[in-house]
Formats: sequence, C-alpha cells, structure tokens
Amino acid sequence: MKQQSHITYETFPDWEALSPEERQLLQEALTAAGKAYAPYSGFAVGACVRLEDGTLVRGNNQENASYPQGLCAERVALFAASAIHPGKRITGIALVAPASPTPLSPCGGCRQVLLEYEQRQQSPIPVLMGSVNGPVLRVAQAADLLPFCFSKENLTADAPERQ
Ligand code: THU
Repeated sequence: MKQQSHITYETFPDWEALSPEERQLLQEALTAAGKAYAPYSGFAVGACVRLEDGTLVRGNNQENASYPQGLCAERVALFAASAIHPGKRITGIALVAPASPTPLSPCGGCRQVLLEYEQRQQSPIPVLMGSVNGPVLRVAQAADLLPFCFSKENLTADAPERQ
C-alpha cells in the first residue's frame, strides 16, 4: 500500500519578513558563526537557541584535526543549552552559514538531536534556517525535519536483549 507524507514549511524572502524575536535569533546565530572554529572546511556555521525564559545560547561548529571529532553548530548550542540550563524548555533555534546563499539546512545528526529535545519537552521547537540577508525557511517543529525518526520509543523493554 502506497502512503504519502508531507511536511509544512514557510519561506520568507529575507529577514525583514520575520518577527523582531526571530531576527534577533538569526542575528545571534550569525554572530556565533563569526567565532566558529572551522579551519578544515572553511565553512563557518552559527546557531542560537532561545529558552523559555528568554535566555539565548549560541553555538558554532568546532572542528578538529581528527575530522570526525568535530561537532556542528546546532549540537554545540543544543548541548550547551541543556548542560547549562537543564529543564528549561527550548522555544526556538536559528541557524545560518555566512557562506551559504540558501537557507542552511541542519544535517541528519543534528535533526536527530534536536528532535529528541523536542520530544523530551513535549512542545514544538520552531527551526529557522537562514541565509545572510537572503531567504529563510521555517518549520514549526523539529519533527517536520525528520520523518520516520529513531527515538527512545524504539528502545523498548521488549526489544531483543542488548549486549
Ligand atoms: N556544519 C554545521 O555546523 N551545521 C550544519 O548544519 C551543517 C554542517 C558544519 C560541520 C563542519 O564543521 C562544516 O559545517 C562543513 O560540513
């Protein structure tokens, strides 16, 4: 049986079309990108998480000579937010890469991490994917970025015994 799934997303021609809070979040992400440590790819990325009390937590990509040990901007920001402000709900995240003329799309690993925080807090995390002075894409919830996700529900007690 064939089935279909669709996601809802919004596009904006530029930052002007966004709310002041959203513009601020993107601006913070852009500022964070300016402090990225990306000597190997040369591709700086910035992210900024907003928490329920208005706290902003910035992150940027952190690369390493042992390439796989580096981490994306989104996860740096999300892990920092959760580590420093445990239990505070995330009310939004913005990402941007100065070198990208199109909205920055988070990688699969970051989508997985983002989705787990969304499921954990049981409220949606809107994601703003920005470009500098250019188009912006917005999804209302992280779940829209990762259909058929793997989650803790897959780790049930009925699952075959793990080593
Ligand atoms: N990167 C991010 O930080 N976020 C993304 O959404 C995509 C990719 C980083 C990882 C690496 O440091 C560089 O961009 C090139 O892939």
